[in-house]
Amino acid sequence: MAEMVRKSSVGEVVNHWVLAGSCILLMISGYAFLFHIDGISSIFGGYEAMKTVHNYLGVVFCLSLLVTTVHYLKDAFEYDADDLQWFKVAGGYLSHKVKVPPMGKYNPGQKLYYLGILGAGIAIAISGFAIWFMKDNATVMLVSHLVHNIAFCVFAIAVPVHIYLSTLANPGTFQIMVNGMLPLSDARKKYPKWIKAVGKM
Ligand code: HEM
Repeated sequence: MAEMVRKSSVGEVVNHWVLAGSCILLMISGYAFLFHIDGISSIFGGYEAMKTVHNYLGVVFCLSLLVTTVHYLKDAFEYDADDLQWFKVAGGYLSHKVKVPPMGKYNPGQKLYYLGILGAGIAIAISGFAIWFMKDNATVMLVSHLVHNIAFCVFAIAVPVHIYLSTLANPGTFQIMVNGMLPLSDARKKYPKWIKAVGKM
């Protein structure tokens, strides 16, 4: 059996499922509201029921997003010279000829993805609560719907890219989402600076 190393704690794994599950259901129901898709709303029990589910899933998503600040915020703000070089070679995604610098626990793409989700998440949450509770104020409703829809577009682009990069594009990564672990030999190749820092190089 290959020696394994823990990359995500049990709390991180559980919270990621809550975040991902609530986010995806919110996106599906939100899409159904936006384009009046009866087929989707009937799965939720009709438009009124879908509205209730959507609102309370929004609360779950907000709490889960808050928990992510404990898990990822510090890492997401730390960039070193190798991270800057990573940007210069576009993470090696555009060419196999470039040399990708050694990475720490998260690459800069993942760190920026987190900050993007956090920013769009805050915008979608504030505008969502305004739509829920401030129905009498026409200006607030107008601005909130605009912000809510723009933030939705950010999620609609970023999340599928994230899912693709964490599954098909990088085989083995999905296991981190399941039990928080990955083979030590893979971790040494993908995240050498993190493995060095935890003394397993
Ligand atoms: C359902 C499909 C999804 C899959 C397969 C997936 C997979 C993963 C994996 C494997 C990681 C750990 C990466 C690592 O440590 O190297 C991760 C991290 C993360 N995921 Fe997801 N994820 C999914 C959905 C989502 C959704 C819907 C959101 C956002 C709302 C999200 C937000 C995050 C964040 C913020 C991180 C930590 C920072 C990062 O790695 O960029 N994920 N995901």
